Amino acid sequence: MTILIKNGSVVTPQGIHAADVLLDGERIAAVFEPGSTTLGSDIEANADRVFDAAGKYVIPGGIDAHTHMELPFGGTFASDTFDTGTRAAAWGGTTTIIDFAVQTFGQRVQDGFNAWQEKARGNCHIDYAFHQIIGGVDDDSLKAMDELVDEGVTSFKLFMAYPGVFYSDDGQILRAMQTAVNNSSMIMMHAENGMAIDVLVAQALAEGKTDPKYHSLTRPWETEAEATNRSIMLARMTGAPLYIVHMSAKQAVRVLQEAKDEGWNVFGETCPQYLYLSLEDHLAQPGFEGAKWVCSTPLRSKAEEHHDELWKYLRTDDLSIVSTDHCPFCFKEQKELGLGNFSKIPNGIGSVEHRMDLIYQGVVDGKISLERWVEICSTTPARMFGMYPQKGAIAPGSDADIVIYDPAGRTEIGYEKTHHMNMDHSAWEGFVIDGHVDTVISRGRVVVDDNTYLGEKGHGRYLKRGPSQYLI
Ligand code: URP
Ligand code: ZN
Ligand code: ZN
Repeated sequence: MTILIKNGSVVTPQGIHAADVLLDGERIAAVFEPGSTTLGSDIEANADRVFDAAGKYVIPGGIDAHTHMELPFGGTFASDTFDTGTRAAAWGGTTTIIDFAVQTFGQRVQDGFNAWQEKARGNCHIDYAFHQIIGGVDDDSLKAMDELVDEGVTSFKLFMAYPGVFYSDDGQILRAMQTAVNNSSMIMMHAENGMAIDVLVAQALAEGKTDPKYHSLTRPWETEAEATNRSIMLARMTGAPLYIVHMSAKQAVRVLQEAKDEGWNVFGETCPQYLYLSLEDHLAQPGFEGAKWVCSTPLRSKAEEHHDELWKYLRTDDLSIVSTDHCPFCFKEQKELGLGNFSKIPNGIGSVEHRMDLIYQGVVDGKISLERWVEICSTTPARMFGMYPQKGAIAPGSDADIVIYDPAGRTEIGYEKTHHMNMDHSAWEGFVIDGHVDTVISRGRVVVDDNTYLGEKGHGRYLKRGPSQYLI
């Protein structure tokens, strides 16, 4: 099957240029000037399918480097399966996800990894890879890190939050970082001071402060900035590369920026919720409504002015990637587990479908350039996690993962309208985007076109990743 995408504006981190793109089977065969005769004039006549992308952007498919399909959390499971979650991702122009396989305390890491392979195998609509959560650092799990690198898992997430669940202490983190240096993998960090947070949570509950907004008020920015600093210091002691996930506090990114400026190999990720949503407008909604926006790190106060600072850090590359931390829970029966006690609300927001649109709106609003949109949503995730140029590029030989995006289109986000995630609400209800995902192609297969879903479960393949291309 050959597909010609003609007359579009190809956007990459390097620039925007008018080009036609020829796909042959699962790969990109050629990228050439429109009307170029060097490839012969028969291309269009011979193509099985032709898309006219005049007036539209042609970009590499989105890569969401942080999702949690079916994550066990707080006595329940994230509500998207690999089937429903990757289908929703495809709808929104994401053609690769990296999900987190989980080792819970006491479990063999390999068993956790195999369980995630089982959940995903044959169920994904788009390509997928795994990071591994290490929920209990010990001799066995450190050895397992080496084995997993051979399986294509080259990044490991540790938690400075959630004592008694996923938490690692400083000594454990140090040992895992030393292992990462030896096997050329990346340490990903959930940087929040979980011990301090647990005290603040217990005190708030004892004072009868049980509403969802206390989730944020018991996780002040200092808990994120302190843990960010500590994790960077541990990384410096070991020389390990460090990637801090879901950053929401400008003060924490400032700490990261200083370390980057000093030349340390540290990276930051933020998520759409930290660029648009807030304590006042969302988490503090009356009654239990705010539970929809309980996630960690938490939504922060508008008064503290984080949003604009985070956009700025995206421009300056102090934040390198926007992922979703997609971790959906239904309001009924799942978020409701925390009725009367905010600390029992399962943590997470579902956004896998909306990331490309939400960050494109940042282009429309003048926060980032078009090229930067592609860089932070596709090309850098591919390079950061060892998949480039198979993914994240529009170049001959790369996988034919392409999105045709219409800047004259419009996308109304909301449960009733465009939402395909397995959730009974949307954290993004009412958001309107000045753009639209028109066509999505995953490894040469058209999976979305003209508001119609054409993909299928089982098309997505497991990607064995190499080392981060940011390792030095
Ligand atoms: O609220 C969140 N972030 N839920 C998912 C688990 C995690 O810490 O990433
Ligand atoms: Zn986390
Ligand atoms: Zn997460």
